[in-house]
Amino acid sequence: MNPRQLTFHILRYNPDTPKQAPTMQTFELQEEMGMTLFIALNKIREEQDPSLKFDFVCRAGICGSCGMLINGRPTLACRTLTKDLPRDISLMPLPVFKLLGDLSVDTGTWFRDVSLRTEAWIHTEKVFEPKAQEERMDNETALNIYEVERCIECGCCIGGCATANIKPDFIGAAGVNRVSRFMIDPRDERDEQQYFDVVGSEDGIFGCIGLMACDDNCPIGIPLQGQLAYVRRKMAVAGWKR
Ligand code: SF4
Ligand code: SF4
Ligand code: FES
Repeated sequence: MNPRQLTFHILRYNPDTPKQAPTMQTFELQEEMGMTLFIALNKIREEQDPSLKFDFVCRAGICGSCGMLINGRPTLACRTLTKDLPRDISLMPLPVFKLLGDLSVDTGTWFRDVSLRTEAWIHTEKVFEPKAQEERMDNETALNIYEVERCIECGCCIGGCATANIKPDFIGAAGVNRVSRFMIDPRDERDEQQYFDVVGSEDGIFGCIGLMACDDNCPIGIPLQGQLAYVRRKMAVAGWKR
């Protein structure tokens, strides 16, 4: 089979030169066997335009830095094979996050802010004893925590979320998932009312409209639908008790 000629339509915009309006630039590239978007974008940058900005670190779906809109859908570019895409490929930066240029966005500041807002650390009155034996936890709870802690902070669930796109302070599925991780951890001594102060609002779980784009788009399959339902249920009870 002859290799395909791919046409990339890539958003170009530099926030440092705001007078220059955003444009879609077209690049042609011959497809190669096993080509990922990581390979394609690097080829375009090396051979056609060294000023093209995008982010990749691990190239293996681990670091979460290469989330972008690929033909309108938020996902990881390093794990996307061109053979799974049509000949025409449009690439846009993830919305919601601060644009650094072209396909590169700053997800780090957003996630740091969510970590601070949700106080994403174990809250306990116990004094840390460095020499004490590690506390035991039942296997099922440990596995549940492990499951939701796999989030790589790629931002795909945020970029595809209708609420996050119109409400800048909405914590999104990744933020709710973060809260849920501490709710199920028996070492965290926060009660439901304390969690309600964190997530029981329209910028928290009650801003979610439940259409599950987050769950559809999470590239590593975190069960976001279940996490959202779990936190919503807990917060509805806490709100009712208030
Ligand atoms: S279900 Fe909620 S968090 Fe998920 S995409 Fe929809 S509004 Fe956003
Ligand atoms: S929950 Fe999934 S989609 Fe959202 S940031 Fe984490 S890994 Fe990415
Ligand atoms: S480069 Fe690390 S997830 Fe894609």
